Amino acid sequence: MKSIKKVVFPVAGLGTRFLPATKASPKEMLPIVDKPLIQYAAEEAMHSGINHLIFVIGRTKNAIINHFDSAPELENELFDKKKPALLKIIKQIIPKNVHCTFVRQENPLGLGHAISCAAEIIGSDDFAIILADDLIKAKTPTIKDMIKIRDKSCPNIIAIEEIEKTETDKYGIIEYSSKKKNLYKLSSIVEKPSPNKAKTNLAVVGRYLFSSDILDLITKTKPTVGGEIQITDAIGKMLSKSDIYGYKFKGQRFDCGSKLGYLKANVEYALDHKEVKKDFKKYLQNIKIN
Ligand code: UTP
Repeated sequence: MKSIKKVVFPVAGLGTRFLPATKASPKEMLPIVDKPLIQYAAEEAMHSGINHLIFVIGRTKNAIINHFDSAPELENELFDKKKPALLKIIKQIIPKNVHCTFVRQENPLGLGHAISCAAEIIGSDDFAIILADDLIKAKTPTIKDMIKIRDKSCPNIIAIEEIEKTETDKYGIIEYSSKKKNLYKLSSIVEKPSPNKAKTNLAVVGRYLFSSDILDLITKTKPTVGGEIQITDAIGKMLSKSDIYGYKFKGQRFDCGSKLGYLKANVEYALDHKEVKKDFKKYLQNIKIN
């Protein structure tokens, strides 16, 4: 198997759960303490050996392009004002050996459709997908763990998590035919089943590894739930041809597309942030909650 060098970040969604903040600004630029969600996602990919970052953007997402571009005026200012630490932070966002490509999804027709917008750039390569609003706090990057497993087994792996049974109508839910440690061999997948119809409480979260075969299957997929072209339906089609494994990842996931998940992530990351953790902990310990 060839190594994974490309990742797709679908960031063209409307982020309606976060309005009005997301009316003109990308959800993926919301900061967790001091770093935007999309930068956490890019770092996860780069720390996993990936060097080509493909962003599928929409009309309100130009700030993402700017974030990963150089900023000569800012860099000169930080240099002149003798702020080398900040200058280093800015310059290191994208190292020289990493390549960024941006493609437009003209209309938000669904996650599956967004991924297919990157088809030409992916070509015939195996590739990763990371959803930046699913932030995972873990010792090793989740996508790195998945790449390691892929090398030993099959090219198609999706991250899964046990969720509350009442929440199944928010996720793709898998069924499995066999299981070895934290790897589940998929037998079926359903998008957002109601809790009384869901066969398990194993939900798909925003990390995937696929062979390029998935791209062709997406083009054959019709809009379903929410009128969107769902990646879940293309995964279902793929199951009749190839093995797909669900990987129950290690670490804590925050759904930063929801207000509550976003707030929890900020608290957890702030308690780990070397500049603020001491004072923030003190603040939390003294806070009065009625
Ligand atoms: P979500 O459904 O979580 O994001 O899609 P959303 O649509 O932006 O947010 P809500 O539900 O309205 O609040 C998961 C990921 O897929 C991307 C989103 O940007 C998000 O990262 N996506 C979704 C696209 O790129 N294009 C789409 O058409 C739909």
